[in-house]
Amino acid sequence: MTMATDQQRQSAPGETLAPSPAVAHHEGRRRARPRLWHHDYLHLRPLAADLRHVLGHARGEPRGAAEPWRILDLGCGASPYREFFPAALAAYVRVDLDSTASPEVIARGESLPFAEATFDGILATQVLQFTDEPQAVVAEIRRLTRPGGRVWLTCHGAWPREGTTPENRYGEPDLERLFSAFERVTVTAEGGYLGLPFALFNLAMREGVRAAERRFGRAALLLRLVAVPCFLAANLMGRLLERLAAAGPLRPFLAHLDRSLSMNYLVVAERGA
Ligand SMILES: C[S@@+](CC[C@H](N)C(=O)[O-])C[C@H]1O[C@@H](n2cnc3c(N)ncnc32)[C@H](O)[C@@H]1O
Repeated sequence: MTMATDQQRQSAPGETLAPSPAVAHHEGRRRARPRLWHHDYLHLRPLAADLRHVLGHARGEPRGAAEPWRILDLGCGASPYREFFPAALAAYVRVDLDSTASPEVIARGESLPFAEATFDGILATQVLQFTDEPQAVVAEIRRLTRPGGRVWLTCHGAWPREGTTPENRYGEPDLERLFSAFERVTVTAEGGYLGLPFALFNLAMREGVRAAERRFGRAALLLRLVAVPCFLAANLMGRLLERLAAAGPLRPFLAHLDRSLSMNYLVVAERGA
């Protein structure tokens, strides 16, 4: 187990500067409250909505309200979904391999420095795609969850890779296999085929604006003003199609297509006794 120090939070020469606490906080809030004018709204909206629902219902169960939960946030980053838990938790332990996230414990998900059954619930959002040993991470998550405890894990399905970090992608059968040692496993697809082209359009647009800013500096900042209405229009189109797939006369045609590809998945699982 390693505790982060201020010195470790500074970037080494040549590395990308770590985001300031204010920037990390802003990004966390943005992920928890995606807005229609954000480029990644179609990706983050269902993720935040589903997590708000399942984590909000974690209150007091199954230990009872008198015994609040001990939660582990694995691969915590800025812990954007911390606020979805009920306020009264016995502990909220933030773990990440990256010291710039200012976690309480610096460790890898593949081998975690806690005793068996330490936590009532484990949250691991958008981290599984970064490990080459997903079985090891899920086995550690199961080991640390007390019998009857809950796991909430999200990861990418169909989504482009960003940057140079290797990333894996998952489908429903992969996740069901990975969680086969758990009980009451549900895998929920988030963000379907119909929204995907609009989400990709927004990603491409954002990359274009970034490239222009790198090339032309401040002169290209104006492009952000152009991009925002484009994000908004694409998000509205994506939402409209998602709603038509969910209800109305076109549902039989669109629902199947929408389910055939998913941007993201949410796994909720319980460790058996
Ligand atoms: C995309 S960020 C997600 C952060 C946060 N959970 C969220 O949903 O916004 C992925 C995080 O996982 C961390 N990470 C990547 N691989 C990891 C591993 N093997 N063990 C622990 N953390 C890891 C990264 O340092 C990063 O903070």
